[in-house]
Amino acid sequence: MKLVQKITIIAATAFVALSMNNSANAQVANVWDGAYTEAQAVRGEKSYQEHCSECHGTQMQGREEAPSLKQGAFIYNWDGMPVSVLFQRLRETMPLDDPRGTPRKMKADILAFIMKQNDFPAGNAPLPYQNSRLKRIQWNAQNPAGD
Ligand code: HEC
Repeated sequence: MKLVQKITIIAATAFVALSMNNSANAQVANVWDGAYTEAQAVRGEKSYQEHCSECHGTQMQGREEAPSLKQGAFIYNWDGMPVSVLFQRLRETMPLDDPRGTPRKMKADILAFIMKQNDFPAGNAPLPYQNSRLKRIQWNAQNPAGD
């Protein structure tokens, strides 16, 4: 194979990889579009049980002062807001006794698990942990596409 052909193939592959990567994120306008991955939610569950369940319950059902983190009032509390607002809330206030003790990435994993518990579907790209990217994903209690 000629060098120029090789270069063309490499460039084309890189282009496809890049555009796939972009579209995986660009398609996610809200939590119904697959804003996290299954593997991330599995990691998040482990961290949730370790850092959150003592107050919010092993099933996220809520306990004493700590509210439930699934369905009902919870899902509507954040309705229509960018996911970055909920993420900031986790970053700054949770776990109540040590909010800065868990790293950003772990908080994104936990939020992925919360999404799963609220029956939002998983997708191809993990939930990001950067505010600039979380801002572009909306939390909608009900699917705006209507299904
Ligand atoms: C020491 C107990 C405790 C721990 C541990 C804890 N929380 Fe909380 N959480 C609370 C309490 C109490 C509230 C309600 C009062 C408040 O908002 O500060 C709350 C509120 C929340 C809310 C707002 C709920 C709503 O209805 O909007 C979220 C979200 C949340 N917690 C997530 C988490 C996550 C995720 C973790 C683990 C990283 C965690 N919490 C760990 C006690 C706790």
